[in-house]
Amino acid sequence: MVRASILGLGSYVPDRVVTNDQIRFLNEKHEVCAEPQTDTNHEWIKARTGIEERRYVPADSGYGSSDLGLFAAKLAIEDAGLTPKDIDCIIFGTLSPDIHFPGNAVFLQSKLGIDGEEGCACYDIRQQCSGFVYGLQMADAFVRTGLYKHVLLVGAELHSHSLDFTTRGRDVMVLFGDGAGAAVIGALETDDEKEGILYTHCQADGAGAMDLYLKVFEIAKAPYVYYDANDREQNQIKYPQMNGKKVFLNAVRNMVVSVQRALKESKLTWDEIDWFVPHQANLRINEAVVQYAEIPPEKALNTIQVYGNTTAVTVPLTIDHYRKLGKVKKGDRILSTVFGAGFTWGSAIFRV
Ligand code: COA
Repeated sequence: MVRASILGLGSYVPDRVVTNDQIRFLNEKHEVCAEPQTDTNHEWIKARTGIEERRYVPADSGYGSSDLGLFAAKLAIEDAGLTPKDIDCIIFGTLSPDIHFPGNAVFLQSKLGIDGEEGCACYDIRQQCSGFVYGLQMADAFVRTGLYKHVLLVGAELHSHSLDFTTRGRDVMVLFGDGAGAAVIGALETDDEKEGILYTHCQADGAGAMDLYLKVFEIAKAPYVYYDANDREQNQIKYPQMNGKKVFLNAVRNMVVSVQRALKESKLTWDEIDWFVPHQANLRINEAVVQYAEIPPEKALNTIQVYGNTTAVTVPLTIDHYRKLGKVKKGDRILSTVFGAGFTWGSAIFRV
């Protein structure tokens, strides 16, 4: 029987660390100002979110999210013992693409040096914080049906350029960081149906679409981009908007149900699962999920403290973070549950 399996993983975060104490002094260009630009403080951020610091690309780096994705993709391909030429499908998940269209997958394909007339299939998916689990479900199906041999799944986000560095945007601005994570998914010949990627399930509830969104433009309007920097109402179009409490409650509820469903449908118990890797949006969300879904707390892995919320990146970044520390080992089985804008959510169980 052919199953799909994660053959390699990689992640990347920029070197620049922005602490909670520093973030309130940053302006839109990420310059450190003499006076605070945002009314926030370390104690509030740490107590309400668990975040202590996050990573930002240098403001003058010229990087787009496809560049961050490239760093992670190269590491994942190498980790799989492959070269870019072995990749026959790219799935790129991001809510911060380089430009409106085309999507990031084709830019990444070129940056990997595998574009051209024989170029592989390139998919772009959105699904925000749920991007990795949604992408993993696609990759799993593609590989098991024999459509593609080696799928490169990449999540990359460059949030720091599209945040509101004023008190108005503080509820969202303090949450997000930049980074990238990637996995190579390929075939595994085995008769054990619990090997490789053994479970994926994705859901969405469009009723929550406008509880967490970033417009940038409205195609229904002409002109479809209207931007007046002096008009504080209008310039909100540039920044993410969030109903934080509603997102919080929906995240906890749906992640708990999703974990329970994953265990029931896979017929696994926590004795057979090494780690729980939830999306990293808020440490309090993850602690509540662990409590209500009765997950052994010592199996829950979090990195939000040091990377903030990197949306589509959090799952591979967290796994790779603990792999580098020697905690997650080859062959470990992970249950990952995500929740994001849309609302979208889902779970996956897989070995790394
Ligand atoms: N620094 C200081 N104060 C802040 C602040 C900040 N960065 N952001 C908000 N506040 C203030 C609010 O203005 C409010 O002030 P008020 O009482 O004077 O009106 C107060 O803190 C409490 O705000 P509230 O929104 O009730 O806080 P909260 O406990 O709900 O925490 C979030 C806010 C955003 C941390 C929380 O709602 C959350 O994490 N939601 C989910 C977000 C998420 O997961 N998003 C990604 C989904 S994938």
